[in-house]
Amino acid sequence: MTSTLALEGVTKRFPTGTVAVREVSLALEPGDFVTVVGPSGCGKSTLLRLASGLESVTGGSIDVRAAATSYVFQDATLLEWRSALRNVELVGELRRIPKDERRRRAQEALDLVGLTGFETQHPRQLSGGMRMRVSLARALVADPDLALFDEPFGALDEITRLQMQTELQKLFQLKRFAGLFITHSVSEAVYLSTRVLVMSGRPGRIVAEIAVPFPYPRPPELRYEPEFAELTGQVSHALGEHS
Ligand SMILES: Nc1ncnc2c1ncn2[C@@H]1O[C@H](COP(=O)(O)OP(=O)(O)OP(=O)(O)O)[C@@H](O)[C@H]1O
Ligand SMILES: [Mg+2]
Repeated sequence: MTSTLALEGVTKRFPTGTVAVREVSLALEPGDFVTVVGPSGCGKSTLLRLASGLESVTGGSIDVRAAATSYVFQDATLLEWRSALRNVELVGELRRIPKDERRRRAQEALDLVGLTGFETQHPRQLSGGMRMRVSLARALVADPDLALFDEPFGALDEITRLQMQTELQKLFQLKRFAGLFITHSVSEAVYLSTRVLVMSGRPGRIVAEIAVPFPYPRPPELRYEPEFAELTGQVSHALGEHS
C-alpha cells in the first residue's frame, strides 16, 4: 500500500449522535487532485478534518504516508502582526530551518503565487485574494506530500476565484502533491481535479466518482469547452440525484 492518503470504510459519529460521514473509502496517490462536492452539512469538512488528524474516526481506518501535510481553510487564517513574508516564513521557523534558508524559500513561494513586491505588507493591507495567495504560499512552502483544502476560494469574488483556480492548478502541476479539495462549486471541482467525488446528503457517503481526463496546465478557456460542460453536467446530475 503506497497511497499518500487512504481511507477505508471511514465513519464518524459525533458524541451528539450525529453521523457526519458513513463508510467512506478513498485513496490518493501522488499526482492525484481529488475534489469533493456535496450538499451543505453532508460531512465534507468532517472528512477533511479526519484526513488531517484533527478529528478521530469512530469506524474504519485512515492511513497517511506523508512527511508533510498542509491545510488551507476558507479564511486565510494569517497572523495579523506578521508581514506576508513572515507569515510564510513561520512554517520554516516551526521546523527550525536556518533563517537564510527559510527566508529564501518563503520568498520563492510568494513569487510563485504572484506576490513579489508585497513581502512587507501586513494582512490588513492586502485584498482578500492576496491574503488567500499568502495562505497558499504558506501551505506549499514546505513542499507538502499531501495538501488538504476546505473551500479555500469560497469567500472570494467570482473573478478572483477563477484566477485562483488557474494559479492553483499551475502550482499543482509544478509541485505534484496529492490534493484533496472541498468545494461547493461544480465547475471549480472539474477545472481543478483529476477526479471528482460526489457525496450524498448526511450521513455523507460517496455516491459517484467522475474522472477528469484533461492534461495540466489547463487553460482558463477549458471552461467553455463542450467536454468540460459534459463533465460538469455529470457531476450536477449525480448531486441532484443524491441530495
Ligand atoms: N464537533 C462536532 N460535534 C457535533 N456535530 C458536528 C461537529 N462537527 C460537525 N458536526 C455535524 O456534522 C455534520 C457535518 O458537518 P460538516 O461541517 O462536516 O459539513 P459540511 O459538508 O462541511 O458542510 P458545509 O458545506 O456547510 O461546509 C453536521 O450535521 C454538523 O452539525
Ligand atoms: Mg464545510
